[in-house]
Amino acid sequence: MFYPAIRKVLFKFDAETIHELTIKGLKSTGSNPLNALYKQRVAEKPVNVMGIDFPNPLGLAAGLDKNAECINAFAAMGFGFIEVGTVTPRPQPGNDKPRIFRLPEANAIINRMGFNNKGVDYLVSQVRAANFNGVLGINIGKNKDTPEENAKDDYIHCMRKVYNFATYITVNISSPNTPGLRALQYGDALNELLSALKAEQATLANQYGKYIPLAVKIAPDLTEDEVKSIAKSLIDNGIDGVIATNTTLSREGVEQLEHSTEQGGLSGTPVKDKSTTVIRILAKALDSKLPIIGVGGIASSNDANEKIAAGASLVQVYTGFIYQGPPLIKEIVSGL
Ligand SMILES: Cc1cc2nc3c(=O)[nH]c(=O)nc-3n(C[C@H](O)[C@H](O)[C@H](O)COP(=O)(O)O)c2cc1C
Repeated sequence: MFYPAIRKVLFKFDAETIHELTIKGLKSTGSNPLNALYKQRVAEKPVNVMGIDFPNPLGLAAGLDKNAECINAFAAMGFGFIEVGTVTPRPQPGNDKPRIFRLPEANAIINRMGFNNKGVDYLVSQVRAANFNGVLGINIGKNKDTPEENAKDDYIHCMRKVYNFATYITVNISSPNTPGLRALQYGDALNELLSALKAEQATLANQYGKYIPLAVKIAPDLTEDEVKSIAKSLIDNGIDGVIATNTTLSREGVEQLEHSTEQGGLSGTPVKDKSTTVIRILAKALDSKLPIIGVGGIASSNDANEKIAAGASLVQVYTGFIYQGPPLIKEIVSGL
């Protein structure tokens, strides 16, 4: 494959400029014969998780296709499922640029995007236009200017808008770039949010005549007791799945590298073991009552298998895919 050569050119430019150009290119080619540029056959490895049939267990993690503009392109590359978003009720610009930094020596990225997105109505219009019949996760969040005490309203607003178009819905309470969001992972705040979302899910299931599973995405920066307490809340509230993990605030292992002092969440190889540890604690505490989607630092089929050995039923990639492109999908799926 020629991705290494393409990457050499791409990485000469500012990370966000390239991201925007790539999204434009994928958006305009995803549903026409030009998708032959990246279309590939990957091994069939069907699995059933959360009551959903997946053609293979490898998904695209949230944040790359925030506005759901490239679903068909990512599907053509062979992902078994695609998670779009994080989307918020209203469009918002996100943080000031620059806000995404590559740390190539560590196969890592630091980002403080801050949920830049075109809002849930635009995302739904894109999902409708894609006419995709594969597995689509829609990841929802809160607007930056919504007070923390009203966060629940934003999640419910998004849930109502996306329910009829998602195969599963992810409740993102773990981005480090929206002030106060991670506070929703703890104690009463978590239980109150989850019970409200569960009640809404029941109402929507009734209204649409279909049950759409709810997954919760958590951070890697949690103590063992905090992970156990989250696991208990997930079980008590009947949540359908958990995604572990988002990016880390830690800079362990990258201290000496250029950009390591930039604020934001660190992803890629440096978060790998932290995320696997969270998965291991979750697996024990959940006792198979709900499935785990493992994400964080996967850059090879070995890394993916490590997550599965720790207790994950599905895996996702983001940073590894930025560094290695579509060949990584083929490699991982064939090695699972
Ligand atoms: C630039 C960037 C933007 C991201 N945006 C989101 C997001 O909007 N929502 C979300 O749940 N996770 C987001 N993530 C986190 C990833 O989905 C993933 O959980 C994390 O990066 C760890 O996986 P990785 O090491 O394979 O990248 C983002 C990650 C990056 C690098």
